[in-house]
Amino acid sequence: MVKRAGRNLISISDLADADLEFILDRGVELSTKQPRRQLGPLEGAVVGIYFRKTSTRTRTAFSSGALRLGAHTIAFGPDDLQTVTGESVADTAHVMAGMIDILVARTAGSPEELRQLGAHEQMPVVNAMSSAEHPTQALADLTTLRARFGTLRGRRILYVGEGNNTAASLALALSRFEGVELELRTPPGYGLDEATLARARDNCLRSSASVRERHDMAELPHGVDVVYTTRWQTTGTTKSDADWRTTFRPFRVESELWETSSDALFMHDLPAHREDEVSAEVLDGPASIAFEQAWNKMYSAMAVLEWCRS
Ligand code: CP
Repeated sequence: MVKRAGRNLISISDLADADLEFILDRGVELSTKQPRRQLGPLEGAVVGIYFRKTSTRTRTAFSSGALRLGAHTIAFGPDDLQTVTGESVADTAHVMAGMIDILVARTAGSPEELRQLGAHEQMPVVNAMSSAEHPTQALADLTTLRARFGTLRGRRILYVGEGNNTAASLALALSRFEGVELELRTPPGYGLDEATLARARDNCLRSSASVRERHDMAELPHGVDVVYTTRWQTTGTTKSDADWRTTFRPFRVESELWETSSDALFMHDLPAHREDEVSAEVLDGPASIAFEQAWNKMYSAMAVLEWCRS
């Protein structure tokens, strides 16, 4: 089989600018013009949905999205494949590529495993969350922003919380849009890894965007468009520091943040733990578009599946 050159989505960086534009435009179009319609571009295709970790949104978004596009789905849980009994990932991919048209996989492990799964021309692989990145979350988030603001150009986003896989994909995606200002406030010891920051700053050289990170909550930027947070215990991870909550506590998103950014929208990738990373007043309040953001995961997933087959 031929090694695949494109159409895997394992990192946001796998997408050329035109691919990114296509997925965002199509996601907005599906969410605004054709909500809940049954479409047929994936008619006859078989989409594998392989989740080794828990998921409500991403798994449902890709499953429902694939069905709405006319595909059939096969679901694999954490104990279903012979990898559990020692079969190699390479052999698993070789077999699946002869039977499945697109594989959507949440391993929560290294991206290398996803690259092995995506080594075959016939079967594009979509990263539904790995330890390093959550690219389909960022695509749904940017779809939501584009639907709300019309353009991403010049948007100012304040990210508060752990520099986790969602933060990494957001930084890698937002940094590609002209004039975007992304400010991350991450707890000390829980920031974005240096390699991701460096890649995001490389993007900024081309786009005139900016990505800044600090490890405190002093001197917050005024008048931001969006405040974004994620839950403190990212799916599939644990923290070695027993006292991590003390470190995270100053980074809770509360209504006081709106004193300096009164028009800011609030975004959260969900699932949420009210009164951990965000107060219930904010999450359930008028600024919150967290559930619109969650619903957009399906339209964005449909756009990703169409792109995989294009
Ligand atoms: N945001 C997100 O990835 O949600 P799930 O873990 O429920 O898929």
